[in-house]
Amino acid sequence: MRCVVVANPKGGCGKTTLATNLAAAFAAAGLATALADVDRQRAALAWAGRRPDQAAAVRPLDWVKTVGKVPGSVERLVVDTPAALKVGQMDDLLGLADILVLPLQPSVYDQGATARFLNKLAGVKRVRKARIAVAVVANRLRPRSRANGRLDGFLGEIGHPLLARLRDSAIYGDLAADGLGLFDRPGARTAACRRDWAPLLDVVNAPPVSG
Ligand SMILES: Nc1ncnc2c1ncn2[C@@H]1O[C@H](COP(=O)(O)OP(=O)(O)OP(=O)(O)O)[C@@H](O)[C@H]1O
Ligand SMILES: [Mg+2]
Repeated sequence: MRCVVVANPKGGCGKTTLATNLAAAFAAAGLATALADVDRQRAALAWAGRRPDQAAAVRPLDWVKTVGKVPGSVERLVVDTPAALKVGQMDDLLGLADILVLPLQPSVYDQGATARFLNKLAGVKRVRKARIAVAVVANRLRPRSRANGRLDGFLGEIGHPLLARLRDSAIYGDLAADGLGLFDRPGARTAACRRDWAPLLDVVNAPPVSG
């Protein structure tokens, strides 16, 4: 079982969007996939509830009250977390995670929250020992925006590489409304957005870093 936790204390940076699209990508690739929701707003569970029967199955897990057990049959677990994640839940998830995906938008607010979060993570033993891979992903990028340059400058300063750059696109909202992800829709309309995901998918599909 491989576990991908999507987290960032900054609200609205794209956690649920990344979690649902990752779950759809795993499921569409034929892997037994579960999507656990730790956020009491239950947006990821609502997405799973809208998912059509014809789409590759994603098993919803309600972990709002407590981080539960992972069913034995699950090959890929994606966890969506709230902006205000409780310390105990964070500890439980850090014990489970193989990959931590941190989305951030090109804004000074997201950058500040992400820098503080990365700082905290640097103190976590499983991160220090490279048992958890930390993947920072820029979300909602707009072409020719000056904010993109500021984001690059910020990441250079904190010395953390950016794994992937996801564009701002109405496709994400349209698919979410139907309980779908980019990888449920392999056609031309989603092609450019799907290309953005290639480096992230390479990391989440790579052999585990822990033994
Ligand atoms: N790449 C994108 N392009 C366009 N819209 C996006 C993109 N990523 C996210 N959004 C939209 O931005 C909004 C916030 O995204 P999302 O709900 O995934 O963030 P979140 O981090 O889960 O928020 P919260 O902290 O409230 O849980 C949603 O309306 C979503 O559809
Ligand atoms: Mg969310």
